[in-house]
Amino acid sequence: MRASDEAPGGKNPPPVRLDEYEPRARALLPRATYDYFAGGAEDEATVAANLAAYGRYRFRFKVLSSVTNPDLACEVLGARLAMPVQLAATATQKMAHPDGEVAAARAAAAAGVAYSLSTLSTVSIEDVGAACRGTRWFQLYMYRDRGITTDLIDRAAEAGYNAVQLTVDTPRLGRRERDFRNGFGLPEGMRYENLTGALQRTGESAELGQSALSSYFTDQLDSWLSWKDLEWLVSNSRLPVMAKGVVRGDDARRAVGAGVAAVIVSNHGGRQLDYSIATLDALPDVVQAVAGDVPVLVDGGVRRGTDVLKALALGARSVMIGRPYLWALAVDGEAGVSRMLELMRQELTVSMSLLGVKSLSELSEDLLVRQ
Ligand code: GLV
Repeated sequence: MRASDEAPGGKNPPPVRLDEYEPRARALLPRATYDYFAGGAEDEATVAANLAAYGRYRFRFKVLSSVTNPDLACEVLGARLAMPVQLAATATQKMAHPDGEVAAARAAAAAGVAYSLSTLSTVSIEDVGAACRGTRWFQLYMYRDRGITTDLIDRAAEAGYNAVQLTVDTPRLGRRERDFRNGFGLPEGMRYENLTGALQRTGESAELGQSALSSYFTDQLDSWLSWKDLEWLVSNSRLPVMAKGVVRGDDARRAVGAGVAAVIVSNHGGRQLDYSIATLDALPDVVQAVAGDVPVLVDGGVRRGTDVLKALALGARSVMIGRPYLWALAVDGEAGVSRMLELMRQELTVSMSLLGVKSLSELSEDLLVRQ
């Protein structure tokens, strides 16, 4: 039985902050699933660093600025979004809850925020497209076979998605040791629904020390990914292309030169190169290099409304969150993700009022001090 969020005063009172979903999800999920979602590469130093980076900033708040009802709205690629918190692409969401990606996408649409669908989803591009009419971005892994890639981006365009996010930090999968230990593979009965035939792989890996997912990446995805491929994608996609997984100003500038419509500062939630720079620490360099030409988004380690405000004060247009909504999804499906987003909205409203800013455009570095 799933723990209900809504049992007032019961044994499981509704979470009052995002982090409360994680232990509840851990108690519900099989170990290998929990570890796959929670884990990072090698020492998981970057997973911890992403979180810790937010704790190093303090606010220099403004007083007597009469902010009762701050405006949380933000605009990304022409879409007006209710708040600067979007749902990042995370793979295989049916492992968290039987309703999977449909539940998360519906909760995002109801809250007026964008949902990113992973290439490696357990509900297809079309079924998520039909289930929700909100802003949807399609996260893309490039296949060795360009025909498969073209097919995926055309399907996303046909199904009404608004942008493609090319993940650029994953020429091959990072070493996720929890998954090696657990022999991680897709559970029985689940498939990567966007991929067919030979591209499906659900069994155990034959290769010692590899998870099935790691072998999948090695076998199917393009480890030779280069700037030419980004240019190829920009000129072959009917949708605007976002580059996801950039942590350097020079790379960000080059991505803008290649024609991307947005840059996402990300280290894949600490799941790729361990000891990567924390995303919040990478953000100012990227923002400076991009110089306002395209919006810059950031993910990794965001757990609080105050984290969101810190990232925006350092120049992000919006943040994206991953694990917190997976935990909320595991605990209570669509209702869980909705409640989690509502907690974020409430935290943002209160913190903006206390910070003394009426709209997101008033957020600037001047409001922060780094300790
Ligand atoms: C897939 O994108 C993963 O990080 O496991």
